[in-house]
Amino acid sequence: MNKNDQISAIEEFVKQNMKGYDSGHDWWHIDRVRKLALYINEREDLADPFIVEIAALLHDTADSKFAKGNSEPGYSLISDFMDEIEMSEIRDHVLNVIRNISFSNRKKSGNHSDPVLRVVQDADRLDAIGAIGIARAFNYGGFRNNKIYNPEVLDSSGNRKTATASTISHFYDKLLLLKYRMNTLTAKRLAAERHEFMEIFLKEFYKEWEFGTGTKQISQSSFR
Ligand code: ADP
Ligand code: NI
Repeated sequence: MNKNDQISAIEEFVKQNMKGYDSGHDWWHIDRVRKLALYINEREDLADPFIVEIAALLHDTADSKFAKGNSEPGYSLISDFMDEIEMSEIRDHVLNVIRNISFSNRKKSGNHSDPVLRVVQDADRLDAIGAIGIARAFNYGGFRNNKIYNPEVLDSSGNRKTATASTISHFYDKLLLLKYRMNTLTAKRLAAERHEFMEIFLKEFYKEWEFGTGTKQISQSSFR
C-alpha cells in the first residue's frame, strides 16, 4: 500500500471509531490537529511528516473518556489495523505517541522526548485554546450537562466555599495553563495569541455577568 492509500485508510478508520464522541472531539478536531502538527513540524523541522500525520490522525481514537476508562482495547484495535495496512514498521512509534499524548494518562515507561509526540501534543493543546478552544469547552460542558459558570462562591455564613466545577472553572483548571506547557517555539507563539483571546473573552464574560449588579464577582481564579 502506498502512503496516500495508507492515509486514506487511517482517515476512514478514525471516522468510524470516533462516532460516539462529543462534537468537540469529532473528525474536524482531528483534521485541525493534523494541520497544526504538520505546520509546527515543518517550521521546526523535527520529524518525518508522514509519522506526524499518522499520529495526529490517530491521537484520540482510543480516548479512555469514551471507552469507560479503558484505552487498551482501543490500542489493540489501532495496532491490528496498522498491521493490516502494512504499517507495522511505524506502529510502535505511533502507539507511543497516542499512549503519552494526554498529560494525565501518560505512561511512565513511555518515550516522552520523542519529537513526534512533542509536536502532536502541541497541536492537540493548541486546539483546546483560543476561539475554537472556547467553543469546544462549552460544547463539552453541554455534553456533560455542566453549568456554564457557578458564581456562588460564598456560603451562608459568608465563608468562601470551593465553587462547583463549571465550564468557566475549566479555564482556570486547564485552558489558561496550556500556553506554559507548549513544547515548541512555534506552538508557544501560536498559543500566546490564542491565550490573549481567552483572556479578552473572560473579561467580557464577567462584565456581562455582572451587568447591573454594581458588585464585582470574585473571579474563580481565586480558587486555584
Ligand atoms: P486531552 O486531549 O488532553 O485528553 P481532553 O480530552 O481532556 O484533553 O479535552 C478535550 C476537549 O474537551 C478540550 O477542548 C477541553 O477543553 C474540553 N474539556 C475537557 N474537560 C472539560 C471540562 N470539564 N469542561 C469543559 N471542557 C472540557
Ligand atoms: Ni485531541
